[in-house]
Amino acid sequence: MKVTVVGAGAVGATCADNIARRELAHEVVLLDIKEGISEGKSLDMLQASTLLDCDIKLTGSTNDYEKTAGSDVVVITSGLPRKPGMTREDLIGINAGIVKGVTENILKYSPDAIFIIISNPMDTMTYLALKSSGLPKNRVIGLGGALDSARFKTYLSLALECSPNDLQASVIGGHGDTTMIPLTRLATKAGVPVSQFLDEETLKKVAADTMVGGATLTGLIGTSAWYAPGAAGAYMVEAIVRDQKRIIPSCVLLEGEYGQSDICLGVPVVLGRNGWEEIIDYKLTDEEQAAFNKSADAVRNMNGVLSTLNIGV
Ligand code: LAC
Repeated sequence: MKVTVVGAGAVGATCADNIARRELAHEVVLLDIKEGISEGKSLDMLQASTLLDCDIKLTGSTNDYEKTAGSDVVVITSGLPRKPGMTREDLIGINAGIVKGVTENILKYSPDAIFIIISNPMDTMTYLALKSSGLPKNRVIGLGGALDSARFKTYLSLALECSPNDLQASVIGGHGDTTMIPLTRLATKAGVPVSQFLDEETLKKVAADTMVGGATLTGLIGTSAWYAPGAAGAYMVEAIVRDQKRIIPSCVLLEGEYGQSDICLGVPVVLGRNGWEEIIDYKLTDEEQAAFNKSADAVRNMNGVLSTLNIGV
């Protein structure tokens, strides 16, 4: 398996590092537009690999897409990260052109690749990559739910004082501070609903903390987070390259599922060697469905901005 990560910033480099450490591919290419950065970071990782007992081919490329040829999975992290006070949506103007260009360049050399989109605003960037490339829907997958669910599990495990490994918890909807939906009703500790352990007020706080999980980190660090986003990217890559058929909430094209169409939004999907293979129906309550519809309205508004950007979508 060959995996390319586009964008050697903090998220892209961390994602490549996680893929390399866990030997999820025999070859990883890190590509960036900035001269030397991807070569430098991949060489640093290669040196680290001699200390970590992992055996993998890792190379960097300054904007030479030929080196990415024959990739099975491509993770796109390119674009600006957010700064304190910015929403993910503030980034659309600059990131849309970048994501569209990267997708086109990758497809010249890796026509069969499966795409994982991390660039923000992720739901709209996933829709853009899918529409502008004309790829089959199963091969374009946005990263939101894997990361947001990890944050949900983190806050739940802190409140429950339990291992996050004993938790099942999903976040669906958009990957925005106000559009994501932590599904508290369906969260369990070893199969037992978390509502049996935590009162309503605590659960509400856990959900609220989850929703601003990324913004909290941006406020503390001064830029967008990277450890959990990078690890979440590798987690999705693993499900694909190892054909694990894991159920991971991901941003995919909806065609009537969850009551929505012509939009990419976070829902639980089965991830395997063919990309996303099936959407799981959680049978939302009326209240959850209303939140999902509201989330879809916000993402649809953002998608509408694409037509004003002169990028041919
Ligand atoms: C975050 C960015 C990656 O949520 O969207 O940290």
